[in-house]
Amino acid sequence: MKEYFDANRTLWDAKVEYHKNSKMYDLEAFKAGKNMLNSIELEALGKEVKGKRLLHLQCHFGQDSMCWARMGAQVTGVDMSPKSLELARNLNAELDLGVNFVESNVLELKDHLEGEYDIVFTSYGTYGWLPDLNQWASVISHFLKPGGIFYIADFHPVLYMYDFPSQQLLYNYFNSGNPYEEVSEGTYADRDAPIQKKEYFWCHGLSEVMSPLLRHNLRLLEFKEFPYSPYDCFENMTEMEPGKYVFKAEISLPHVFSLKMRKDG
Ligand SMILES: C[S@@+](CC[C@H](N)C(=O)[O-])C[C@H]1O[C@@H](n2cnc3c(N)ncnc32)[C@H](O)[C@@H]1O
Repeated sequence: MKEYFDANRTLWDAKVEYHKNSKMYDLEAFKAGKNMLNSIELEALGKEVKGKRLLHLQCHFGQDSMCWARMGAQVTGVDMSPKSLELARNLNAELDLGVNFVESNVLELKDHLEGEYDIVFTSYGTYGWLPDLNQWASVISHFLKPGGIFYIADFHPVLYMYDFPSQQLLYNYFNSGNPYEEVSEGTYADRDAPIQKKEYFWCHGLSEVMSPLLRHNLRLLEFKEFPYSPYDCFENMTEMEPGKYVFKAEISLPHVFSLKMRKDG
């Protein structure tokens, strides 16, 4: 797997410079105090983060981690991209938000972090970078205290079946065991960015996401599907309402799913 993770790390490192200056991440608004979290995760978790230890997996350059910190959580953010974490740490120091950022492959986190958390959070663009969701679920369960909450809001595996430029179905729903290898051009927050790098990603159906979590002592509290994306991050999307983007507006597709689960305790 090393060559896959190394290629993906190089890709994510290259994206940071462009994400930092993008309209989507709107760093100036964030620095001025805007809460960049979406209503989907705010409604599910917003009332319960204050004073809690929150572990944010695949935090990228930490905007969402720092938003949870502003809401009163004690946050640890994890990512495998050093360039993402360099920007995260600089912003965190500038804004004095007290977030701890840890560089690690999420699947190897037990070797890089200790402690127990009240909440494990991950969102938008996460599980598709991971070959093994059984190992992922084992990491989540390991870091949750008994009674702790796991929450994910991410793009729906049905949406990921589409090739967005051609609007045709192209990708598997179920994991074949092998990654897709593609050359990624530009980036979702800046399609004209001069990035051309290999990426490796995996398909996982909803049962492949959910079953390992259930097997690792997490009980389902809430499962939701949403007919829109809060981000204009794929080609050919239409803004139906402010902040609600849809692909193929003529049919109703699931765009995002969320799971809220509690560890047995
Ligand atoms: C789309 S971002 C998700 C974060 C968030 N939604 C955002 O936009 O800020 C995906 C992140 O996952 C990280 N990543 C990908 N594979 C990883 C892995 N195996 N372990 C840890 N981080 C990983 C990337 O470095 C990137 O920062």
